[in-house]
Amino acid sequence: MFLKKMTLLAVLFPLLLAAQNDIPIIPKPVSAIRKDGVFTLQPSTVIRYDMNSKELAAAAIFFQKHINTVSGFQLGVNKPSLSIITLKLGKFDEIGNEGYNLEVGATSITISANTKAGIVYGMQSIFQLLPSIRTNALLQIPCIQVKDFPRFGYRGMMLDVSRHFFGPEFVKEYIDLMASYKMNRFHWHLVDDPGWRIEIKKYPELTKTGAWRVDKTNKNWSDRQQAIPGEKATYGGYYTQEQIKDIVKYAAERNVTIIPEIEMPGHVASAVATFPYLSCNQIPQLPMTGGNYSNMSSNYCPGNDSVFTFIENVLSEVIQLFPSTYIHVGGDEVDKSSWKKCVRCQHRMKVEGLKTEEELQSYFVKRVEKFIISKKRKIIGWDEILEGGIAPEATIMSWRGEAGGIEAAKMDHDVVMTPGYPLYFDHYQAGPEGEPQAFGGMNTLKNVYDYEPIPKELNASQAKFVMGAQANLWTEMITTAEGIEYMVLPRMLALAEVVWSTKDSRNWNDFNVRLKNQFRGFEQRGIRYCKGNFKVNIVPVSQNGQLNVSLNTESINGEIHYTTDGSYPNAFSPLYTTPFPINKNTTVKAVTVIDRQSMSSPVEQTYAMHQAVGREVVYTNAFSKYYPANGPNSLTDGVRGTTSHGKYWHGFSGQDLIATIDLGKEASINKLTIGCLQNYKSWIFLPQQVKFEISNDGKNFTEAAVVPNNVSSSEGGEIIKDFIATLNGQKARYIRVTAKVIDGCPKGHPGEGHPGWLFADEIVVE
Ligand code: ACM
Ligand code: ZN
Repeated sequence: MFLKKMTLLAVLFPLLLAAQNDIPIIPKPVSAIRKDGVFTLQPSTVIRYDMNSKELAAAAIFFQKHINTVSGFQLGVNKPSLSIITLKLGKFDEIGNEGYNLEVGATSITISANTKAGIVYGMQSIFQLLPSIRTNALLQIPCIQVKDFPRFGYRGMMLDVSRHFFGPEFVKEYIDLMASYKMNRFHWHLVDDPGWRIEIKKYPELTKTGAWRVDKTNKNWSDRQQAIPGEKATYGGYYTQEQIKDIVKYAAERNVTIIPEIEMPGHVASAVATFPYLSCNQIPQLPMTGGNYSNMSSNYCPGNDSVFTFIENVLSEVIQLFPSTYIHVGGDEVDKSSWKKCVRCQHRMKVEGLKTEEELQSYFVKRVEKFIISKKRKIIGWDEILEGGIAPEATIMSWRGEAGGIEAAKMDHDVVMTPGYPLYFDHYQAGPEGEPQAFGGMNTLKNVYDYEPIPKELNASQAKFVMGAQANLWTEMITTAEGIEYMVLPRMLALAEVVWSTKDSRNWNDFNVRLKNQFRGFEQRGIRYCKGNFKVNIVPVSQNGQLNVSLNTESINGEIHYTTDGSYPNAFSPLYTTPFPINKNTTVKAVTVIDRQSMSSPVEQTYAMHQAVGREVVYTNAFSKYYPANGPNSLTDGVRGTTSHGKYWHGFSGQDLIATIDLGKEASINKLTIGCLQNYKSWIFLPQQVKFEISNDGKNFTEAAVVPNNVSSSEGGEIIKDFIATLNGQKARYIRVTAKVIDGCPKGHPGEGHPGWLFADEIVVE
């Protein structure tokens, strides 16, 4: 008996595993078993449900509409038929309030759940098994038995419609995409400096003025000139309350709750442009055209009671429109300098006994929370609302890493995790070469897939406060619907699996297999998506003075083919197997090939040889973990940086760069160079000066040159500057380079007096 059971398991188990792979549903269901046979959807198929249930009737209509789109069939309801889809609400164990059971047999399908949400999710799983557009193919669904329910209750996607405006039809598409993958919270960022996007009946001027700006879309976001009086404000838009009601209803049909964000007390230049009395200095200003903040007021004045009257009037209408328990009140990135100079604010602090401007912000948020609670709702805010004291019932959205979320959970406050790495979908997912311009940083598909929302720092009872996770899509760099699709797809699918599927079931290879089906669907429907996971990573690795190059791709089943002779790589170029040496100036080009087909455009990297290439760099102060470039020896890897500061540069915050390199033997040196970067708006500044020293024993160094910086730290834009020392063939084995960091961000900079960054890409020894 025992032996028989073992044998049976050994035979069955691999089959079951293979069977799971056959079911290409994302996010992966908790359990899904493939059975023999298929169900064929026909014009005669009917939907059957208890007619007394309004919810099931609504779900049936949702199902009928989708099936009509992909088949042209108009499925009947509650009629006799030999092909039946049954929807059943009841009391079912284990699956909770969003889960479902799905049984697909040869002539019948049953979806059962505790709620309409579960029924709709069962339908979404069926939709994923059908073609995504109308074709002549038979509409066949494999016979399966699925039990499925989410790991987290909060599965969010944020969309910023302030930086750029996206109309109601696209917002519905975004919600549709979310719902297909069982994401259930749409965080709608409706208010920010460059645009107020929600109609408020009591203040029609908010959208008459605050929703429109002078169109500078052809210029870089941060470098745009501000508007001047008389220029026509033609770019923008807003949602009417009727449109919002329609979108809220549309979302609810798909189990998506919309959380509106009415940003405060900062990021409200659009409101101030409409009503100057809302700011501290009360000086009139025009709507912003982009990210140029000079002389702009972007905060409410917490010293002025009329500001709170305004906010309460706005929120009263918002609460009427959105049934969501949560109202997002922003709270991020408040530059408090205007409050420091404002008599009303300072008076408020005195009267209320507030010691710091952080406490003034806390006062502000608590006062607004009191109002929102009086309307039976709750606030959620960015993690800055922890500073100066968290409001009593606030939920924290942790974006500056996970620290805010951890702190809040430890204080028994609910938390949504949305750390910049890896959940900011406005960051690059590949490249940056060949990718649409994005914010710095690199959040690849696999980075997202590997994300774990429960930080190790929390014990089991604290972990219960983590409600889930959310990806954020800020739109400074995104102006079109296709641009949004591209940044969200396929990363949202990885996040969906993180927040829905069991932690143990996550498997990157298996996800890749299921992803293929989705990619085909995107292509059929003309939806843009990023093939970044197919792009090749060209990574320098050095050992004992030898530079090697390793090639890898996140995609599984892909072969990498490459060239080093400048030619365009394809399936017939050499196949990559192991790291290969680079001994002369070389451009490596590589592409991932599956089934003899290149999966994306090639990636290329140029290596420029010099005497220090491949040598170890020893730092006195460690480089920031946020800017690791290509690892510890990135300054001797032969790779020069571009203005994309997230990729090629070692960063040092408020600390000098002191690097020592052992060339392995005495060398004759003509020239020493270190490349540095300035990017004013990212707080990165050229060093004050660079000192070059040489030595023969690694202990006693002599100064070869001190090169001053002749570029102002207030110079905007992105500047790459080489600091160069000429040595005329001096002999040395050791080089030491000391780049002196700026004393602090310069006068007039938003970070004035705070530590600035120093960035370097390469120490070139010639
Ligand atoms: C944020 O990214 N400022 C929340
Ligand atoms: Zn003030």
